[in-house]
Amino acid sequence: MRVEKVREDVYAVTENLEGVLFEGIWEMPEGVSVNSYVVKGEKAAFIDGIFGWDGSRESMNEALAQMDLTLDDMEYIVINHMEPDHSSWIADLDVLGKELDIYCSKESAGTLKAFFGREDRIFIIEDGDSLDLGGGKRLHFIKTPNIHWPDTIMTFEESSKVLFTCDAFGSFGKLDHLFDDQHTEEERASFETQQIRYFSNILGTFNPMVARGIEKAKQFDFEVVAPGHGMVWREDPQRIVKDYERYCSYQKGVAKEKVLLLWGSMYGMTRKMVDVIEKTLEEEKMDYVSLNVTETDMGTVLEHGWASTGIIIAAPTYEYKIFPPMAAVLDEMGRKRIQNRLALYTGSYGWSGGAIKEFEEILARNRMKWEVLHAMEFNGRPLDKDKEEFTQHVRELCKMVREKMDK
Ligand SMILES: Cc1cc2nc3c(=O)[nH]c(=O)nc-3n(C[C@H](O)[C@H](O)[C@H](O)COP(=O)(O)O)c2cc1C
Ligand SMILES: [Fe+2]
Ligand SMILES: [Fe+2]
Repeated sequence: MRVEKVREDVYAVTENLEGVLFEGIWEMPEGVSVNSYVVKGEKAAFIDGIFGWDGSRESMNEALAQMDLTLDDMEYIVINHMEPDHSSWIADLDVLGKELDIYCSKESAGTLKAFFGREDRIFIIEDGDSLDLGGGKRLHFIKTPNIHWPDTIMTFEESSKVLFTCDAFGSFGKLDHLFDDQHTEEERASFETQQIRYFSNILGTFNPMVARGIEKAKQFDFEVVAPGHGMVWREDPQRIVKDYERYCSYQKGVAKEKVLLLWGSMYGMTRKMVDVIEKTLEEEKMDYVSLNVTETDMGTVLEHGWASTGIIIAAPTYEYKIFPPMAAVLDEMGRKRIQNRLALYTGSYGWSGGAIKEFEEILARNRMKWEVLHAMEFNGRPLDKDKEEFTQHVRELCKMVREKMDK
């Protein structure tokens, strides 16, 4: 639990998390930070949960002392979102020996009861409601459902102009320094990959609601963006807003000038075609990433899939269908709404094939709206004519990716 001053009487409590799967699924090669906040008026409020709290009075008092507060000063908890990465600390609140009023959405109240059995001293907020903490500090509540659960809200403090956004504007990546201005341009660029990874893994499915929530939040004249994960943006808050707007727009099909080549191969037949595709992408000077589907975690595939305008799938037929790990990943790409991409499919089969059919079924049932420029199965090893034919399609894909960028 690291305490940092964000603005006058606004503090962040942050904790790095490593070596776990987020939501029990997503690998985080760079870890993640979990941030919560405290706003101090005449009365003080926790905003979101204190992650990493060991559940003891002593450690809470120690953290509060760094803000010149004691437990007696704490009056409120604002819950922006009930996912346990932010809310699990509520289970331990009883040890504080002090009852706090909880302000949250109706949806959060339902989940609060279901998760922790907590039903008393709950105040349901409506869109536009505010809470006066005294001493010039007033919290405004903004309903932003489905960033990331139906319960989600943002909270804006009017005198400090800090916007507490919870999962919105979040990022993976543990933090040695909390604020944007404490990072070099190089570090910020490397964080951008963590932002896209977080966006695609956690928020992709809710992309239209994220866009809607951002529009709503922009009506407040915030000067600091204080998310529940990742850096606090006090020097350039518009940068993360613009980044997020861009990520939302990738769903329409124009992402980076980049191709994801996602492949699988049991005995190396499809791999022979993958070699040809890689060589062609290099000749075309196309930015691309080549991922073996059986050796790559799903989060990495989604990260690159979200950022790529073109996607090439290469996988053999397996029991009349597409190679199973490829089917699973394609389905997840569909669920995360990686839509409207320019695509190619190829893969080897032994006798009658079938991978193409299932590939197309997966795209259709997830309404992925990929524009499949060409789908081509080949028997056994790819012959020169197969290689030559598919090379032309890869070149065509590169051309179309570039044309989309120009629009
Ligand atoms: C378990 C298994 C199931 C297969 N099922 C089919 C099938 O249903 N239809 C087909 O045409 N080929 C099938 N094949 C043959 C492969 O598609 C063929 O060997 C192909 O060349 C494999 O390409 P790869 O070396 O890139 O994995 C199967 C192979 C294996 C090992
Ligand atoms: Fe969440
Ligand atoms: Fe979260």
